[in-house]
Amino acid sequence: MEDRVLIFDTTLRDGEQSPGASLNVYEKLEIAKQLEKLNVDIIEAGFPVSSPAQFEAVKRISGEVGVVIAALARAKEIDIKTAYEAIKDASKKRIHTFSSTSDYHILGKFADERYGKNLSEKRKTILKMSYDMVQYAKTFCDDVEFSAEDAGRTDISYLAEVIEVAIEAGATTVNIPDTTGYTMPSEFGNKIAELRKRVKNIDKAIISVHCHNDLGMAVANSLAGIENGARQVECTINGIGERAGNASLEEIVMALNVRKDLYKYYTNINTKEIYNTSRMVSAFTGIIVQPNKAIVGENAFAHESGIHQDGMLKNRETYEIMVPETVGVPKTKIVLGRHSGRHGLKARLEELGYHVTEDELQKVYEAFIKLADKKKEVFDDDLRMLMGDEVFKKQEHYEIQYMHVNAGTNSIPTATVLIKNHEKEYSDSATGDGPVDALFNAIDRALGFSHTVESYQVRSVTSGREAMGEVLVRIRYKEHSFTGRGISTDIIEASAKAYLNAINQLEIFKAENENLAEEKSVSKVI
Ligand code: KIV
Ligand code: ZN
Repeated sequence: MEDRVLIFDTTLRDGEQSPGASLNVYEKLEIAKQLEKLNVDIIEAGFPVSSPAQFEAVKRISGEVGVVIAALARAKEIDIKTAYEAIKDASKKRIHTFSSTSDYHILGKFADERYGKNLSEKRKTILKMSYDMVQYAKTFCDDVEFSAEDAGRTDISYLAEVIEVAIEAGATTVNIPDTTGYTMPSEFGNKIAELRKRVKNIDKAIISVHCHNDLGMAVANSLAGIENGARQVECTINGIGERAGNASLEEIVMALNVRKDLYKYYTNINTKEIYNTSRMVSAFTGIIVQPNKAIVGENAFAHESGIHQDGMLKNRETYEIMVPETVGVPKTKIVLGRHSGRHGLKARLEELGYHVTEDELQKVYEAFIKLADKKKEVFDDDLRMLMGDEVFKKQEHYEIQYMHVNAGTNSIPTATVLIKNHEKEYSDSATGDGPVDALFNAIDRALGFSHTVESYQVRSVTSGREAMGEVLVRIRYKEHSFTGRGISTDIIEASAKAYLNAINQLEIFKAENENLAEEKSVSKVI
């Protein structure tokens, strides 16, 4: 155990806090099952008090996934009780509670005089609150993690005091987050070393690190934390997360794996599942992996220059420090076609990490046949897109029934749409700056409201002229944004689907949050 590093995956909690990334319950469940296959030690499944959808997702995952399931809770009774309600069916469960400890956070979030008249009084209040709430969490479950939010910018003496009382109250894991991604590796490593010196009961808990990537140091800081005694690392697939993201799971795991000569630590991760997990998370969240991303980017193992290619042919190790197969990058592209049949499709989906019921298989099979008719060769990434598009997008409100778009040189682009929402139909026409603008204007006119489009992206899913296009549209509603995804071999149709998908997510959000007075303050707190 001494040298084992536990992997705490927070893709479904901190990762889902990435701007515009919202996953529905089915998608979260599928990702959680894939994380189990990847062999992570702990899955942080969500923040149950923040919304009914979060609660439901954590509950479903707790009932169906066999690794430790953690749920986040502020140091508040209502949060902790709700977190427990959501995870109580899990065979292994953890409550993860946190308090703010840096002066920035204390003076900002605890400005109200009821927490104390000055910084010193406020710090005492937080110290007591942390102790009380860990004790309260212990009344529900043995495995309790405590996080000192913004520990990276917290005064070391005060941080040591808070960590000590949290362990005294029963915390079994103490997490040191660099919430704002402010620290440098040597500084962060020293912080962990210093805590090990100052906190007298530190050996009674596992030290965890949780680093954000604002200065691009998240992985380096996590490794520095491990070198100085941390034995749990919190990270996300593809490094997604708040702002610049969290430490990337695949980079930490492979750094420990490839540099065994340097690091004497190991994880239990099944590295061969890294690529599949990365692709699944990208397809469901709509967050594209940059091509030059370490380990999982499209170019991570591509050798372009003649000198490199020549060197590779002579000996792979000339330019390659790990073989792509170690992280599950397939050697050859598997291609399915219209003759592949339901069994072939099901088998391939399972290899890619998807679980489908008979009904779901039927749906995806129909979509697959339509696609195979259009583009003959269907690749893994096409299948991943179909899974996100056809199988898990339940609860759609608005669906496109008919669309016609006219555009060309020296003409005014126009669009006509017919949209259905259960039994109701909406139709209208509009012009615009281009075909997509005309289409979005027509949808807005038909539905009677318009949305601020924050971003519009289009890319081809696989290569070739017949490739499917994926469109991502991010819309804004108050302080929230929603990313809709649409795929089709016709990018104008994909655009309509993506825009309506974003609108549908907004509708679901509105319906779920109408009566949640707490929701606003919750989303602001973390
Ligand atoms: O970054 C952070 O501080 C967090 C905590 C809630 C652990 O995500
Ligand atoms: Zn975080």
